[in-house]
Amino acid sequence: MWTKENLFELVQEKLRDYMFIVVSNREPYSHVYSARKIVWEVPASGLTVALDPVMRACGGTWIAHGSGDADAEVVDKDNKVGVPPNEPRYSLKRIWLSKKEEEGYYYGFSNQALWPLCHIVYTRPVFNESDWNTYKQVNELFARAVLEEVGQRKAFVFIQDYHLALLAKLIKDANPNIITALFWHIPWPNPEVFRICPWQDEILKGLLSNNLLGFHIRYHCNNFLETVDRSLETRIDRESHEVIHSGKKTSVQPFPISVDFEAISRHAQSAEVKAEMENLRARLGLDNGEIIGAGLDRIDYTKGIPDRLRAIDRFFEKFPEYRKRMVFIQAGVASRVRIPSYQAINEEIDSLEWEINWKHGTGHWKPIIHLREHMSPDALMALRRLAHFFVVSSLHDGMNLVAKEFVASRFDEDGVLILSSFTGAARELGDAVLVNPFATDHFAEAIKTAIEMPEAERQRRMRKMRELVQENNIYKWAADMISDLVKFEFGES
Ligand code: F6P
Repeated sequence: MWTKENLFELVQEKLRDYMFIVVSNREPYSHVYSARKIVWEVPASGLTVALDPVMRACGGTWIAHGSGDADAEVVDKDNKVGVPPNEPRYSLKRIWLSKKEEEGYYYGFSNQALWPLCHIVYTRPVFNESDWNTYKQVNELFARAVLEEVGQRKAFVFIQDYHLALLAKLIKDANPNIITALFWHIPWPNPEVFRICPWQDEILKGLLSNNLLGFHIRYHCNNFLETVDRSLETRIDRESHEVIHSGKKTSVQPFPISVDFEAISRHAQSAEVKAEMENLRARLGLDNGEIIGAGLDRIDYTKGIPDRLRAIDRFFEKFPEYRKRMVFIQAGVASRVRIPSYQAINEEIDSLEWEINWKHGTGHWKPIIHLREHMSPDALMALRRLAHFFVVSSLHDGMNLVAKEFVASRFDEDGVLILSSFTGAARELGDAVLVNPFATDHFAEAIKTAIEMPEAERQRRMRKMRELVQENNIYKWAADMISDLVKFEFGES
């Protein structure tokens, strides 16, 4: 089994002479002002949850946008700060963006064009030429930071996600000796969908400048290869999943991302989490008897939160015997709220919750409790542990690490996961109760199945899912990518 120790050994052995650099838009830690004092926070992001343990194990430098309002206060002259802030293991180098750059690159092209384009959830992408120009400029800014950091040394640059699709090309144009891999954390749609992007060719050429390109599942790799085949002059080897473009080879492979199973499982067993479970119960007026359902999401229109609420509504309509016996706790972190489609989803969630609580609630019992405040890692873990059933209902999702975090946290081998079949995670976690979040009646029945599942069956399923996540953990994901890259680039077998 892969652990942080043997991942460290692999990096020492294979990438001994190389600098190890991760680049992403989102930073793993941000510094913010809280009542004039500077505190640090961990942003709500699957990407950083996954990559932080890898960087802790490997060391190196992580280059990312400094988005916290106190970020600039704590960095050195090279814009670097040691992280994790309480026990530094690697360097975080922050890049500064003006509001105009953030607007066009992050809120604009990344999240109003590429994000809805890649997630098939019927939100129309917005293609704005000035956003695209800013996206290019910001990719250049990241490229300059990487090149400055590398200097004349040998380096392996591990790029993350759709914000930085052009980065590898910009790096390699300046220094072809730098090795790059990019992991695309969201789905890749079919060619008919992607071809509406006016700048599809530049994006594909940018991605094909990487030595290795990773997606969560084979299906997304195939969609990508089809997209390339229909739009660029390339040679595609379908056996080895390699693309030759402008004389250069890119290997396109699936690497299902995961979580630090052992660390999560250990945290779940801590005394602090146990105390938080009691706090949460007392604060929410839960007296031990009720069935608790939970959902924990970044508030995004891809996560299927309204669909889950509609299923809960239908559940109480169909099975009124559960009124006053079941409570659903939705915890959510606000996200990208400057974008109109995100404002709309927040309003839709508010009005659905209000309506459902009005329709089914009696006395002090309300079927839905929405926790909108920032919750500590202990409180989030307490919520996972309190849940009799836990819902992940994405309409489309590359992987969904919230589902894997839930499984890793249930060391008691209890709790039922209700999981959308449209997540990458559903390919691995077949012992969850799988649902189509668009099909409200079937979803409502799945809630009943989860609630009424006998203990032995719950344990059998949870045990199997835990074995799987334990084996296919985040260290395996990183080791598989590094081993693949090394094999491909250095001709090792
Ligand atoms: O997992 C996909 C992703 O876009 C990551 O790139 C990102 O860290 C996460 O979702 C959260 O989004 P954001 O960084 O825009 O808050």
